[in-house]
Amino acid sequence: MAEIGKDIKKAKRMLEEGKLVAIPTETVYGLAGNALDVEAVTEIYLSKNRPYFDPLIVHVGELEVIKDYVEEVPQKALTLIKKFWPGPLTILLPKKSIIPDLVTAGLDRVGIRCPDHPMTYQLLKSLSFPLAAPSANPFGYVSPTTPEHVNEQLGNKIEYILNGGDCAVGVESTIIGFEGDESVIYRVGGLSVEKIESLIGPVRLSVHTGSNPQASGQLESHYAPRKPLLLGNIQQLSLDNIDAEVAVLSFREEYQLSNLRRQIVLSPSGNVDEAAQRLFMALRELDKTDAAFILAEAVPEIGLGRAINDRLRRAASSNST
Ligand code: TXA
Ligand code: MG
Repeated sequence: MAEIGKDIKKAKRMLEEGKLVAIPTETVYGLAGNALDVEAVTEIYLSKNRPYFDPLIVHVGELEVIKDYVEEVPQKALTLIKKFWPGPLTILLPKKSIIPDLVTAGLDRVGIRCPDHPMTYQLLKSLSFPLAAPSANPFGYVSPTTPEHVNEQLGNKIEYILNGGDCAVGVESTIIGFEGDESVIYRVGGLSVEKIESLIGPVRLSVHTGSNPQASGQLESHYAPRKPLLLGNIQQLSLDNIDAEVAVLSFREEYQLSNLRRQIVLSPSGNVDEAAQRLFMALRELDKTDAAFILAEAVPEIGLGRAINDRLRRAASSNST
């Protein structure tokens, strides 16, 4: 098992030695290494069992440093950065050659973000390089939102987990890029589409669920628990599977079901932000029960509800793969 601690200097030392450290962010925990060091980046892919075609996000401590890593920052990107960084927004920008091709899986653009977490902020400011960090989970599984989640799955692959408590947002960052004049969202996440559009106008959603995604964060079956997850009307799904014990993930309502093993209500008050914050924790807990299925329902498609529904749909589609 890895050590869980709050020693930022130790994390810094290890990263400078080329080692990996799990770091807290406001979205989910990341598995971080020196983004400019090909060996450290290779280690990230290996530890996660992640295919090399799936690019990594580069994390920085402040806006000023990105000029070292990207060719140009379009006006809309700058507007977004000024308003929403630090925060759950990753921006795809044309990369400079200092960013290894391995980080971007050979793509011309690098995903960059400035996470909003005081410990990771301090860590990034103390380092002379940016951190490549995918979510700190094995490839395809639910992202971790606590240090214990990281330890459960990657504890034997890394030495140190920087303990920044529970993640405040709970779903991964929103990913945006620009195609000509058009703003395109490639992954819905912790910053709502509404907030982005209110600042820069209409965006196109290019959130693939098809079989030929640009990157695996867009893979149809991703963010998935091991147990089959069925998405729909919970009463009906319960009846359809009446001979099996079920675990239920509901939005605000508590269901009385005869075959219920365990139920988690994401937000009794019906708040999508609260639901997002608890989503991955809840999926992990339900995955640990011995119910045959997880039954889940969609939440309102507003604000972070969009990201929640996206993750639930992907979790549900992995049943067939
Ligand atoms: O909130 C987050 O973004 C978290 C925390 C740790 O920062 N990170 C995260 O990373 O979710 P990861 O590796 O689990 O998901 C990153 C996804 C990739 O799967 C891919 O879909 C997309 O980001 N991505 C990264 N770089 C890209 C690029 N250059 N072009 C297109 N998509 C990219
Ligand atoms: Mg991930």
